[in-house]
Amino acid sequence: MIIRTAQIFDSDSVYNIANQDSVRLVSFSQNAINRADHKKWFENIIKKKNVILLIIIFEKVIVGYIRFDIKDKEAEISIVLLDSYQNRGLGKIALKKSIEILISKFAEVNYIIAFVLSENSRSTYFFEKNKFIYKGNSIIKSRKAKKYVYEIINK
Ligand SMILES: CC(C)(COP(=O)(O)OP(=O)(O)OC[C@H]1O[C@@H](n2cnc3c(N)ncnc32)[C@H](O)[C@@H]1OP(=O)(O)O)[C@@H](O)C(=O)NCCC(=O)NCCS
Repeated sequence: MIIRTAQIFDSDSVYNIANQDSVRLVSFSQNAINRADHKKWFENIIKKKNVILLIIIFEKVIVGYIRFDIKDKEAEISIVLLDSYQNRGLGKIALKKSIEILISKFAEVNYIIAFVLSENSRSTYFFEKNKFIYKGNSIIKSRKAKKYVYEIINK
C-alpha cells in the first residue's frame, strides 16, 4: 500500500469515492455531491495549511482517502474506501500509516477525533478495534453521532 498527499489531479478519484451511494448513506450530508461543487471544494482543501488529504493506493488502484482537519492539538479524521476494497483490512493499515504521516507533519497533535453516525456500525466497530475510545454522543447536522478519540502516545 502506498499513501501519498493528494494532488490536484486526484480530484475525480476523490469525488468518485466520496460520492458512492453507500458512503453518502453514512455521511452527515447524505445528498449526492455535485461535481462542480466538489471541484471547488477539492481545490481549496488541498491548499489548506491545516488539512492533510491523503490518497490510499493499493495494487496501483486509488482505493480511498483519509483527511485530517487539524486544530491546535487535535486532528479530526475522515476515512473512506471504495466499497469493493472495504472489509479486507486495508482501512486498518491505511489508518496506521496515515497517523505516522500526521505525526511527522504536525508533531503537536495529541488526539485524533472521529465523529461517526451512530447507525454506522461497521465504522464504529472499525474505530473501536483500532484503539479509538468512545466518548459519548453528539448531534451533527441533526443526526446522532458517536465521538471517538485516539490518543497519540508514542511519537
Ligand atoms: C470505515 C472503513 C474506512 C474501514 O475500513 P476497512 O478496510 O473496511 O476496515 P478493516 O477491513 O480494517 O476492518 C473492518 C472490520 O469491520 C468488520 N465489519 C465489517 N462489516 C461490518 C458490519 N456491518 N458491522 C460491524 N462490523 C463489520 C470486519 O469484520 C472487520 O473486522 P475484523 O478485522 O475483526 O474482521 C471503511 O469500511 C469505509 O470506507 N466505510 C465507509 C466510510 C465510513 O463510514 N467512514 C468512517 C467515517 S469517518
